[in-house]
Amino acid sequence: MQVVILDDPESVAEFAARRIAHVIAVAASRGRAGAIGVATGSSPLGTYRHLADLAAAGQLDLAHVSAFALDEYVGLPYDHPESYHAVIARTVTEPLGLDPALVHVPDGAATDPQAACARYEELIRGAGGIDIQLLGIGANGHIGFNEPTSSLTSRTRIKTLAQRTREDNARFFDSPDQVPIHCITQGLGTIADAGQALLVATGGSKAAAVAAMVEGPVTSMCPASVLQMHPHATVVVDDEAASRLTMRDYYQDVFRRLPGTDR
Ligand code: F6R
Repeated sequence: MQVVILDDPESVAEFAARRIAHVIAVAASRGRAGAIGVATGSSPLGTYRHLADLAAAGQLDLAHVSAFALDEYVGLPYDHPESYHAVIARTVTEPLGLDPALVHVPDGAATDPQAACARYEELIRGAGGIDIQLLGIGANGHIGFNEPTSSLTSRTRIKTLAQRTREDNARFFDSPDQVPIHCITQGLGTIADAGQALLVATGGSKAAAVAAMVEGPVTSMCPASVLQMHPHATVVVDDEAASRLTMRDYYQDVFRRLPGTDR
């Protein structure tokens, strides 16, 4: 796991966008369009803005790139402004100029959500897998909506949101009881299959979860700790989110010595 500590959220976003652009360029050089795994929530918004800028400046060609969202609420209609179908369209598909036909979100409005989970796994496989998965982390250590005690090898499935997650996400709804109880999320095993995992976290409210993910044991009590098992996982944090890491100097030393194509 590589840990990159940067001064502020803007630098985190720029670093992450450049890393994604680099992975897409490598895929293109190998004759593949590439697939990005995309997260919702506040953490990746700056990254999407920087990616949109790179695309607008002609430094990134996303015309044939696919995108796969991590998760979706169960029971919200697609056109609900907080359904992840709508959020991904608003924050990813439109600003990045992706082809909507190549952007996929789990079908939380399906009449048979179990079948929708299996279909989603098929879709990812059919696209040749995800080249780089962008992630945020919940204050309880979740990635996607894999709440504490999620199986470390889980696949896309229906989960029940933790109370903490529902409280954290209440800011997007008119009242806390409008936050759905169930979701469909890529599993930890699904996320682990991505060629690269790129997690961004900023702010002091994420510091404990970041420390548990990076320096704690691999445990389903901190689902993000599964990234310790990933051969190409990068955690990009600002100073505040890094504030509870004990090996900070080491991470910074490693980062300074990196040959820098994408820093
Ligand atoms: C959303 C997702 C979640 C969020 C996490 C952090 O698709 O997968 O794991 O990344 O809840 O949310 P923010 O970034 O809003 O703090």
